[in-house]
Amino acid sequence: MSRRNPFRLRYSDVTPRSVYLHRRSFIAGALGALPSGKAAAGPKLAGAIKSAYSTSEKQTPWETITTYNNFYEFGTGKGEPAVYAREFKTNPWAVKIEGDAGKPVTIDLDRLMKLAPLEERIYRFRCVEGWSMVVPWIGFPLSELLKVAEPTSKAKYVALESYYNERQMPRGRYAGIPLPYVEGLRMDEAMHPLTILAVGLYGELMPNQNGAPVRLIVPWKYGFKSIKSIVKIRFQERMPPTTWNIANAREYGFYSNVNPKVDHPRWSQAKERRLGEFFKRDTLLFNGYGEHVAAMYAGMDLKKFY
Ligand code: MTE
Repeated sequence: MSRRNPFRLRYSDVTPRSVYLHRRSFIAGALGALPSGKAAAGPKLAGAIKSAYSTSEKQTPWETITTYNNFYEFGTGKGEPAVYAREFKTNPWAVKIEGDAGKPVTIDLDRLMKLAPLEERIYRFRCVEGWSMVVPWIGFPLSELLKVAEPTSKAKYVALESYYNERQMPRGRYAGIPLPYVEGLRMDEAMHPLTILAVGLYGELMPNQNGAPVRLIVPWKYGFKSIKSIVKIRFQERMPPTTWNIANAREYGFYSNVNPKVDHPRWSQAKERRLGEFFKRDTLLFNGYGEHVAAMYAGMDLKKFY
């Protein structure tokens, strides 16, 4: 890679916030309370580059983003992942890239963190359930990772798979969806500059409940496309199966682009509730990212987008 990466950060150099907070409360417990009012600063993914793709909208608070989650491997309740993913072991970690690739490769976390300059991407995030938030992710374009494996001309789609281990995720058995969680993108969607791999949020390493250590973010699609805790990526010719489509094909399709005019079979998608707000707002076509992504779907029937 010709571009110099200024963030020569090893994953092992930084301490996850949860570990840090445990340590801090341990120290506080041992030494008495910390000086009041002024909390010690947490470890940061410092120096992330600001992005022109970021929105200036009000960001959803850290507490909300990290306690209102969908991560069925750790329970189906919104508050469960924050509790039951606490001990989730995300280091060591590796992502395997295989399939129609010139250079199939397995990349460990230290290498992944240094693959490209880390950027802050403040994105709107819209769940198919009808709620939304604004999240300052830290990450880099998925294309930077995919390029390493040199996809061949046969690669029309990218299939992604989450980590799954019943010992670490005993609630997965009651998730009601097949696990491991799998997702997929068309090649052009995967290579699109808005599509990122996120390794953190609010300048902190990714909290376990939000998909540590690395998860996908596709801001113009419903949140379920943004697969968490990725361990495998596969280039392939055929459209890959996706978890929610396997679970309920009538309600969840492959494309799942945010669209106020295509209702979920059981509820309207015309409005959404921004977490923390009382009044609903209008849902935006492509979640407001149409100027960047609409061309990819030219000629496709928008009504068949689910
Ligand atoms: N990835 C995995 N592995 N398991 C999941 O249950 N839930 C999806 C998506 N990625 C999910 C997942 C859904 S439905 C949404 S809305 C988002 O993650 C939620 O991300 P958040 O908890 O960071 O808000």
